[in-house]
Amino acid sequence: MEEMWLFLLQEIKSEVVIFLVSLCVASLGLAPSSAASPNIFNVDTFGAVGDGKTDDSHAFLRAWGAACAAYGGPTIYIPGAKIFLLKPIQFQGPCNSSINIQVLGNLVAPRDMWMWKDAFSWLLFYGINQLTIYGSGKIDGQGSLWWAKHCQNCKSAPTAMSFQSLNGLVLKGLRIVNSPRNHISINGCTDVSIHDIGIWAPEDSPNTDGINIGNSQHVEIRNSNIGTGDDCISVLSGTSNVSISRINCGPGHGISIGSLGQDGSQAMVEKIHVEHCTFNGTSNGARIKTWEGGSGYARGITFEHIYVNSVEIPILIDQHYFCSTNCQHEGSAVRVSDVKFVGIHGTATLSQPIKLTCSNIVPCTDIVLSDIILTHVDPKIPISSNCTNAHGPPCPGCIPSLPCLGK
Ligand SMILES: *[C@@H]1O[C@H](CO)[C@@H](O)[C@H](O)[C@H]1NC(C)=O
Ligand SMILES: *[C@@H]1O[C@H](CO)[C@@H](O)[C@H](O)[C@H]1NC(C)=O
Ligand SMILES: *[C@@H]1O[C@H](CO)[C@@H](O)[C@H](O)[C@H]1NC(C)=O
Ligand SMILES: *[C@@H]1O[C@H](CO)[C@@H](O)[C@H](O)[C@H]1NC(C)=O
Repeated sequence: MEEMWLFLLQEIKSEVVIFLVSLCVASLGLAPSSAASPNIFNVDTFGAVGDGKTDDSHAFLRAWGAACAAYGGPTIYIPGAKIFLLKPIQFQGPCNSSINIQVLGNLVAPRDMWMWKDAFSWLLFYGINQLTIYGSGKIDGQGSLWWAKHCQNCKSAPTAMSFQSLNGLVLKGLRIVNSPRNHISINGCTDVSIHDIGIWAPEDSPNTDGINIGNSQHVEIRNSNIGTGDDCISVLSGTSNVSISRINCGPGHGISIGSLGQDGSQAMVEKIHVEHCTFNGTSNGARIKTWEGGSGYARGITFEHIYVNSVEIPILIDQHYFCSTNCQHEGSAVRVSDVKFVGIHGTATLSQPIKLTCSNIVPCTDIVLSDIILTHVDPKIPISSNCTNAHGPPCPGCIPSLPCLGK
């Protein structure tokens, strides 16, 4: 088990190294000629200062405007060894061509609240076709300002990077840290590829999801390390055909489908594939969470080849999300069906590492578990599964056993 864990980490690390090396080679090629090439838009030439103190928002927007009007795949170049302070800004399309943004320097959000002006997002990319953002730069949302207990505005804390209504997005190489709220929001997008990135926020930072995906199709997320105070990745309503692979998640709350069906809403999620992921010290691993009173469906979901280390509940379907013991009048529920958990191995910190607590009214159907081997971190502590209203074939070899299945 240890070996597999190390192997996965090793493999991801070496891919990142190869990737970084190729980035360096690429940037060596670009940097010296950047002034000369008409298709490179260096933010410095648009007046960016990059001292971490001067507001460079206008320079970035001028560079965006020029690149957006250009033809032939322009690149906005953000030089390294500098820190660019940006207030909340929108990069809006449509543009005349596909656009690349090469981020070598660091981007930092303002620490002065007045500079935020009630924005929902810090960096918003809207209505663009074929956007590629890449590089070794760090994108720092300065979230600690918003996480503090005394913070008046915590409910409205903004997202670090929002991608809305994009067709064709590639995001690679970057580190995104300390978002006030979720780090990356993908909404209303098609054809998205996110890979070789890192997302970090402290374990106790509130609502700092790594990546949220909603109302989107054809999304892949792979080879990345995510550790935050909430879900590493969450897949929200209106989303289909998502592939998530080789993610190291932790700390955090795991990889979640949902929450779905809040406030009686209708949810639609299907064709979600999560594989070759590791969860280290997270509260959950593979999770589906729905609110009572919702409608719609979550179906065609597979979690496979997952390694868990010290996870509270590695496998969880919860159709009573955020419902205390006294709420039993569900009325309706999001229908959960055709869900597979295959090849999930490792250790848990609670004595019920599998929980399938489905609705009375709309039970979970076609729930398949196979090759599940979980133990408590303290091998002396016996473990069991807890399931209600979950239906599917038996899993004779599963540890812990699942007496509720196969009936
Ligand atoms: C596209 O190019 C044309 C000129 O060729 C220009 O007038 C227009 O503003 C450009 N579009 C954008 C979105 O910049
Ligand atoms: C699913 O999305 C991937 C991109 O992540 C794409 O290559 C593939 O064609 C999509 N599959 C279907 C059935 O649309
Ligand atoms: C798991 O997380 C713990 C605590 O953060 C850390 O010390 C340990 O190195 C991690 N294990 C692996 C294999 O990454
Ligand atoms: C199963 O979980 C539910 C919900 O958390 C809890 O109310 C119930 O007591 C548990 N059942 C067993 C047998 O532990």
